[in-house]
Amino acid sequence: MNGESLSIDDLFDRRLDYPDMGAARRLARLVGIDEAKTRLRKVLAVLVNPAGPQAWAKKHHNGAATALDYLERRPPLVVLAGDVGTGKTALSETIGDAVARQEHIGVTLYPLSLATRGSGKVGEMTLLLSAAFDTVLKAAEKLRRSGGKASGGIIFLVDEADAVTQSREAAQMHHEDRAGVNAFIRGVDRLAEQHLPVAIVLCTNRLTSIDPAVLRRAAEIFEFRRPNEAQRRAVVEEPLADLGFKKSQIDRVVELTGAQDKKGVGFTFSDLTQRLLPTLILDAYPDRPVTFERAVELLADMKPTPPFRDGAD
Ligand SMILES: Nc1ncnc2c1ncn2[C@@H]1O[C@H](COP(=O)(O)OP(=O)(O)O)[C@@H](O)[C@H]1O
Ligand SMILES: [Mg+2]
Repeated sequence: MNGESLSIDDLFDRRLDYPDMGAARRLARLVGIDEAKTRLRKVLAVLVNPAGPQAWAKKHHNGAATALDYLERRPPLVVLAGDVGTGKTALSETIGDAVARQEHIGVTLYPLSLATRGSGKVGEMTLLLSAAFDTVLKAAEKLRRSGGKASGGIIFLVDEADAVTQSREAAQMHHEDRAGVNAFIRGVDRLAEQHLPVAIVLCTNRLTSIDPAVLRRAAEIFEFRRPNEAQRRAVVEEPLADLGFKKSQIDRVVELTGAQDKKGVGFTFSDLTQRLLPTLILDAYPDRPVTFERAVELLADMKPTPPFRDGAD
């Protein structure tokens, strides 16, 4: 494999253009994380559309060039970190819709392919990353060309990033992995220098595994946690009410999906959406209705996904 032979379809999974109704719907279904949604939307918006803050500053502050300079000099990288099933992928695949709508521009998501990067041949990760950054850079240059103002923006998503940007200090690390980190850092720096309308989103289950040189380049680090009581309620309330559960019964389900003892953990967001709710329905379908009593029985056998063990412990 060499750089030339890598097509855009080798490098990236399906690209997504926003605004997009499907993404809007998926984003709306992510509940209890409004603050992260808002902050991420804004951080990404100013990266993919630098003209936006300039227009804002002109309108409200007579330009405020010095103040804006601090915003503009931020690196084009944000990190989403946290346990599995806490919504990192779901949010990064859909937030582009909110960015596009806020800025009134088109935004395209370029997700680095998970399929190609894992094969572990010498030099492969470096080639793949460099080629991916090249492609993103070229696409962003085209967007910028229309008279200084970007005609659209790009979100470059590196999901499950641990393999790519693992700490260079990790003792067990192979030479090749270090090369991957270096290629990633070079790519971030190249994008930063050129002030292109690109934001890089990096998702990881283990913040401590990410190389410090990568973390230093993050404009912001968003930490995701398992849902607390209010967030679990926000997920299950409407679907359970639809199924005829009373308020006190919903409260009990919320309680039973939380940590059951001091050391324990509660259900993840995906435990609620992808296991609990479908299980309740499939258990009853096609002969019986879903009942609270049966839900309690099923919950007794359902364990939360174990926490993703962080390298630190
Ligand atoms: N805040 C949330 N509200 C509702 N559902 C969520 C939320 N976060 C995650 N989910 C559900 O969990 C699923 C898995 O989340 P995902 O983004 O893949 O987690 P991660 O990438 O952090 O491991 C999502 O597709 C969605 O159904
Ligand atoms: Mg994920």
